[in-house]
Order: sequence, then structure tokens, then C-alpha cells
Amino acid sequence: MRVIETVREMQAFSESVRMEGKRIALVPTMGYLHEGHLSLMKEGRKRSDCLIISIYVNPTQFGPSEDLDKYPRDFVRDEKLAMNEGVDVIFYPSNQEMYPDNYQTYVNVEGVTNNLCGLSRPGHFQGVTTVCAKLFNITKPHLTVFGKKDFQQYVTIKRMVADLNMDLEVLGLATVRESDGLAMSSRNTYLKQDERESALSLSRSLKRAKELYEGGERNAATIIDEMRALIEGYPHTAIDYIKICDTLTMNDVETLDRESVVALAVRVGLPRLIDNYVFGDSLEL
Ligand code: PAJ
Repeated sequence: MRVIETVREMQAFSESVRMEGKRIALVPTMGYLHEGHLSLMKEGRKRSDCLIISIYVNPTQFGPSEDLDKYPRDFVRDEKLAMNEGVDVIFYPSNQEMYPDNYQTYVNVEGVTNNLCGLSRPGHFQGVTTVCAKLFNITKPHLTVFGKKDFQQYVTIKRMVADLNMDLEVLGLATVRESDGLAMSSRNTYLKQDERESALSLSRSLKRAKELYEGGERNAATIIDEMRALIEGYPHTAIDYIKICDTLTMNDVETLDRESVVALAVRVGLPRLIDNYVFGDSLEL
């Protein structure tokens, strides 16, 4: 396994792999790897000849009052985990390498970024799409693998790739959870012991939404009200949003008469956690 820190070296490496007729998969991450990230790598490994992951805590997707400086990092541990998954290259650039002096270009996807985290975190998706467009140009993948845990991010990346005619496939994979249902996240490390139980309110509310849906409920407000009451019953929780959206447009729906996703963001103590459920999918809790 190689660790490449410069854009020039990464591009030269990927070009040579392509020249050999080999297929490249990229898994973009911000590091502090967990089983969710590893599931993306396993799938990328299966579907490619050369598996690249990026580890880069991208400053442009963090708001001024967000956790950029505190975001957990452990490169030595990440290297070992990546090695175990058969990763060929870790692309591990510096900020100077990604955003050199006089940097001026940003990618902005409209529409699907206007709701949910796009409202709560202004500028966030512009940072995500900009860094992903750059990572695609740098690592030249045929396939990139994303988690549906960040459902709006996955939809946004698919939109950007289609709209800008980027020549790569975007694959989305199911959320990996702890045995008690908590969606794995690097930010779970911020949870204090007594907040850990409250963090389960997110997945439990999704389970309730699924039950209501399977019982025939199609009114979005009814489902959201029940979820809200369930979450508010736990200490340390502050709901940012609970919304039910069309999976194509990410616009709110009143009635669940098309493919819809319920997405929520809840602050549990310090960390802001997100989770979601696409109605009709399985949800193993
Ligand atoms: P990060 O939060 O490190 O996540 C990297 C990838 O892992 C994303 O595609 C995310 O959806 C996926 N992922 C996270 N938790 C998961 C889980 N529990 N199950 C399955 N997949 C999971 O998302 C980012 O980084 C950044 O925004 C990035 C795309 C790297 C751009 O900076």
C-alpha cells in the first residue's frame, strides 16, 4: 500500500493504472475510519483492480462554528485498517495541496442541496461537491463508492456527476450500524456515556416510522410528529430537523405516494448526528 500526498504524483499514478486498462475505485473519506467506511472499501475492492481511498478533512465543507479543528484524526490507525482491506493507495493531501494560494473555483449543485442539511449548514454541500470534483480529477476513478448514511450527500454527488458529465459510476451502499442500531459515524466518539443511550433515539424513531408506514400510514406530518415525540422523550436531545422528502428532488412531501426518505438531524449533547430511512427498504435494528 502506498501513501501519496501530492496531486501531481496521484494523477501520474492513476494515469499509469488506466494505461494498463485497469479499473480504479475511489472511496472518499475524512478518516477516523470505522466499519461504515470499511464496507465501502470492501465493495470498491470487489469491483476494481485498483482501490484508492482519500483521507482528507476538507475545510471548505465546515461552517465557521463547526468542529473542523476538533474533528477526530488518527492516521496511523487508519493506515492499518486500510491495509487490512487491501487498499492500494491512500491519497492523503495537505490543505495547501488541495487549496493552494489564490484558489477560486467552487462547484455548486442547486435543487437537491436546498433542503435538510443544506438549510442547517450553509455552504456545506458546496464544500463537499468541490472537494469531490477535485478528488475525481485527481484520482481518475471509474467507480466511486458512497454511503447512504449521508443520503443527501449521495444524491448531490450523483446529481453533480450526471450534470457535469463526469465519466464515472457512483455507487451508494446501506448504512452500517452498531449492534444496538446506532449508525456508525466518526462523530460518535464525541458522545459522553449518558448521551450514548439518547443517541439511539434516532434509529428507534426510524424504526417507528417504518412500522407506521408498513401499517398503511401515508401522511408525512403524522409520522414526523410521532418521531419527534419519541426523540423528545430522551434527555440531551435537540432536534435540528425531521423531514420526509422525495428521494429524487429532496423536496418535502406531504403524502408518501412516491419514493420517499425520512431524514433527521439531532444534536445529542455536543455532536449533531444524522440518520435516514428510505420507505420500503429494509432496516435491520
Ligand atoms: P466521511 O464522513 O468520512 O464519510 C465517508 C464516506 O463514508 C461517505 O460516503 C459516508 O456516507 C460513508 N459513511 C459514513 N458512515 C457510514 C455508515 N455508518 N455506513 C455506511 N457508510 C458510511 O462524507 C464524508 O466523509 C465527506 O463529506 C467526503 C465525501 C469525504 C467529502 O469530504
